[in-house]
Amino acid sequence: MIDSSINSQAILGFLGRALSFELSAVQQYTALAKLMEARGMKSASDKFREEAGEEMQHVERIIGRMLALGGAPNASNLRATHLDGSLPELMQYCKRFENEIVGFYTQAVRHCVTTKDDDNRIFFEELLKEEQVHAECFESWWQQTASN
Ligand SMILES: [Fe+2]
Ligand SMILES: [Fe+2]
Repeated sequence: MIDSSINSQAILGFLGRALSFELSAVQQYTALAKLMEARGMKSASDKFREEAGEEMQHVERIIGRMLALGGAPNASNLRATHLDGSLPELMQYCKRFENEIVGFYTQAVRHCVTTKDDDNRIFFEELLKEEQVHAECFESWWQQTASN
């Protein structure tokens, strides 16, 4: 393992970027839940609200790990919400966003493999797996909607 304090700083860097992604996802999906509710589209609204809840659990896990490493959460780099387009177009946007997060967690896992940091590798691998499921969910939801 490389110098642990240097690696803690690197891990805090990954966690900080992860927090910005996850809070952006909470903001995005909560806004879409409210938008769909206003349009009377209850099942779409419920689906986005459920997604927002899962992202909020990721936020909690990341903040917990930051505090455990002696860091303080300070996300200031949130992405603007994307609310334009039809429901299928919004699903595609969400899928692309999830894939971007998958790419980011893949990098974080690779860093942990390189530094032989098994504990943080497992932490990021779990998030990676869950984001892959999110991307697949948006894809299958889009396919069901597009075929109707
Ligand atoms: Fe997430
Ligand atoms: Fe996600």
